[in-house]
Amino acid sequence: MHKVYIYKGFERFWHWTQASLIIFLAVTGFEVHGTLDIFGFEKAAEFHRIASWMLIALITFSIFWHLTTGEWRQYIPTTDKLKEQIIYYISGIFKGDPHPTEKTGLSKLNPLQRIVYLGFKVILVPITIISGIFYLLYKTFDQNNMVVIEEYPLASIAFWHTLGAFLLMIFLVVHVYMTTTGKTPTSNIKAMITGFEELEEEHIDITPKNDKTQTA
Ligand code: HEM
Repeated sequence: MHKVYIYKGFERFWHWTQASLIIFLAVTGFEVHGTLDIFGFEKAAEFHRIASWMLIALITFSIFWHLTTGEWRQYIPTTDKLKEQIIYYISGIFKGDPHPTEKTGLSKLNPLQRIVYLGFKVILVPITIISGIFYLLYKTFDQNNMVVIEEYPLASIAFWHTLGAFLLMIFLVVHVYMTTTGKTPTSNIKAMITGFEELEEEHIDITPKNDKTQTA
């Protein structure tokens, strides 16, 4: 077994900050929605707006990071071993079958993760953020004293935003469960904290030479 550097420093910072912000936005958002009562409506709305700007800034940096490092390629969908991966999650996993795909430094996502995370990045998060920005700008006055985005009914903005919020919560629950299905229940979470994961020798051959690979 070798310890392989899978998740880089920025990636781990971005992952945990994004997770914290999304959970905080869910708590404050569902208070605005009327489901929770923690900070009080006014404070919840204020905290929600502040956290939403932080999330927008973080995602802007993460888009830049993905593009400049080429890491975006990890999310190119593939049908190779997709069927095997689905069958594994439906039945093989409960029988102790081996994982149909192996993680490497250059291919850290299995075919199902590629599709799900791509959908998360290009559909789910944009639905929530774009509707959130419409919400922020709704009835805001610009420098010419014109009302911005008044013609869109608030109910439809709220619908898309709340739908995005519910889907994000479903994603979160499934995602946390899936993180426990690695080599051991905590190996994936540990890798996202430390950056390193134990991989079998024959699967690390395409990892870059300067990736801090260590022999365990
Ligand atoms: C950049 C991202 C986001 C922006 C710009 C944003 C913006 C907003 C705004 C402006 C409101 C109205 C509250 C107010 O008047 O201040 C709102 C409500 C809400 N937000 Fe967000 N938000 C974002 C992300 C999220 C996320 C990630 C979640 C949950 C995971 C979320 C869940 C909610 C919910 C449930 C409501 C209440 C909707 C309703 O009942 O009408 N938001 N958001």
